[in-house]
Amino acid sequence: MTRTLGGLLDKVRRSLTEAGFADAGLETRILVEHFTGTERKDAITSPDQVIDDAKVNALEQALARRLAGEPVYRILGEREFYGLPLRLSSETLEPRPDTETLVELALPVARRFISQTGTCRILDLGTGTGAIALALLSMLPEAVALGVDISADALAMAKNNADMNGYGARFSTLKSDWTAEVEGKFHLIVSNPPYIPTSDLETLDRSVRVYDPRRALDGGQDGLTFYRLTAENGRRLLVDNGALAVEIGFSQKKDVVELFNQHGFELAESACDLGGRDRALLFVLAEAT
Ligand SMILES: C[S@@+](CC[C@H](N)C(=O)[O-])C[C@H]1O[C@@H](n2cnc3c(N)ncnc32)[C@H](O)[C@@H]1O
Repeated sequence: MTRTLGGLLDKVRRSLTEAGFADAGLETRILVEHFTGTERKDAITSPDQVIDDAKVNALEQALARRLAGEPVYRILGEREFYGLPLRLSSETLEPRPDTETLVELALPVARRFISQTGTCRILDLGTGTGAIALALLSMLPEAVALGVDISADALAMAKNNADMNGYGARFSTLKSDWTAEVEGKFHLIVSNPPYIPTSDLETLDRSVRVYDPRRALDGGQDGLTFYRLTAENGRRLLVDNGALAVEIGFSQKKDVVELFNQHGFELAESACDLGGRDRALLFVLAEAT
């Protein structure tokens, strides 16, 4: 392999393009910049700079993994979410841009709690990398959050991400089978639960099916298991005028709304993702409306 930055960019782009990757240009930039430690401007200002052998080798290995189908952010071991760099592990879902819809939906209600009480206690069910809780903490200096997951590995990664981004003092973690071990009262529950019906898992794109943890995807027979649990336990875990925001699969709005209605919640607002699909729902306890 060539050792100049420009040569490496050409080589990686050609390999990915020939292999049929739709985003070959963008992925080339992400891989080359990450593994060579260069920035976008370097490709223009110093394409002839020579990259040392260790970095070239690391890039070669990364390219081989990408050509074998591994998603680009899994190879990097990190992904940005809501402007925060987050480390990934094999037991954490790669946070998706669609989930930022949930953060945006939850922020105004969290700000309302802060203006009323001076704080907002947030419970993030199925926290994974900590993405949702940490995004909210990044926007709300007065808030604190508890991230819950069944995976000890995910919780360790979430805590690491909190520390890395400077929110460790306001973020704690709890290992729990969903709400089973959670105690206390929160102003706001947020959750992007596993919501794929078990029988659909095999139909998912290989990049998801093989590389995202099954436990982060499998929502049980009808995909609604974790919404059911959240709806059943929501009142116990919320203050009287508390709110609850969940991400949903694009076809689940009707079912999820019905489920929460059965447990005394009313839909306050819903939001679509950038593709225009239903993606996040905000509920309040019925008496609070
Ligand atoms: C769809 S992922 C969401 C991860 C992260 N919140 C995000 O939005 O990127 C669902 C998360 O729920 C966790 N999970 C699955 N089953 C669980 C259970 N029974 N109790 C607690 N957490 C669970 C998974 O480990 C995973 O981290």
